[in-house]
Amino acid sequence: MIFDTHAHYDSGAFNADRFETLEAVNAAGVGLILDPGCDARSSRMAIELAERYPFVYAAVGIHPEDLDKYDLDSYAEICELTRHPKCVAIGEVGLDYYWDASQKEEQKALFRRQIELAIELCKPIIVHDREAHQDSLELVRQYPEARGVFHCYSGSAEMARELLNRGWYLGFDGPITYKNARKALEVLEICPTERILIETDSPYLSPVPLRGKRNDSRNLRYVIEKIAEVKSLSPEEVESLTWENGKRLFGIE
Ligand code: NI
Repeated sequence: MIFDTHAHYDSGAFNADRFETLEAVNAAGVGLILDPGCDARSSRMAIELAERYPFVYAAVGIHPEDLDKYDLDSYAEICELTRHPKCVAIGEVGLDYYWDASQKEEQKALFRRQIELAIELCKPIIVHDREAHQDSLELVRQYPEARGVFHCYSGSAEMARELLNRGWYLGFDGPITYKNARKALEVLEICPTERILIETDSPYLSPVPLRGKRNDSRNLRYVIEKIAEVKSLSPEEVESLTWENGKRLFGIE
C-alpha cells in the first residue's frame, strides 16, 4: 500500500471532483493520505476530509505564503484543530524566500511559533523550505527536540546529512523524475531508506510524464519507480518501506 504523506485535496483544484478522486485514489492502492493545511480554512478542510475518510489524516498550520492570513483568530483556530484525534502533525509551515523575501523576520517568527507548538504537543513538523535553506537549518538547530520532515527536499546533500543526523525525514516528490534533478538524486542516494517519505504535493508537482497536469496520489508510482532505480530496490520494497516510515513518523497505527 502507498502512503502519500503530502497532498492538498482541500485545494480548489479538486472542487469539481474531490470525493470521486479520493475514492478512486484509495481504490487504486493508496492506503493512506496526509493532507496538510496552509491556513486556518484549509486546515479545517483537511480535518473534515480526515473525518470523512478513514484513510485520510490531517496536519494543521499556517504556510509562509499565507503569512498575511496570520492573526490571533486564525492562530487560535489552528491550536483548536490540533486537538482533533486525526491531526497528526503541524504543517505545512516554514520559510519561502522564493515567493517573498521582504518579510523574512515575520516568516521566521511564525515558523518559530509553530515549531514551539509542535514541540509542546509532541507532534512532528512538515517543513516547507523554498530558497531559505540557511535560515531553515538555523531554526532546526535552535530546536534540537523538533522532529519531522523536510517536504519536497531541495537543499544540498550536506544539509541533508545534518538534518538526517538530527533525526529528520526527507520528502521526495515529482521533481526527482525531472531531467535536471541531479541534486535531489544525490540527496536520495545518501538518504537511508528508513528516512525516505514519498509525497505528491497534489495538485502540484506532477511527475514526468504528466508534468503540467493536475497531480493526484496515483502518480506516486513514477516517484516510487525512480526511488527504486536509485536505491537498487524493487518498487514493491519502496512502497512498503515508505509506508512504514510514514506511519512511524506520524504515529499512525
Ligand atoms: Ni504542499
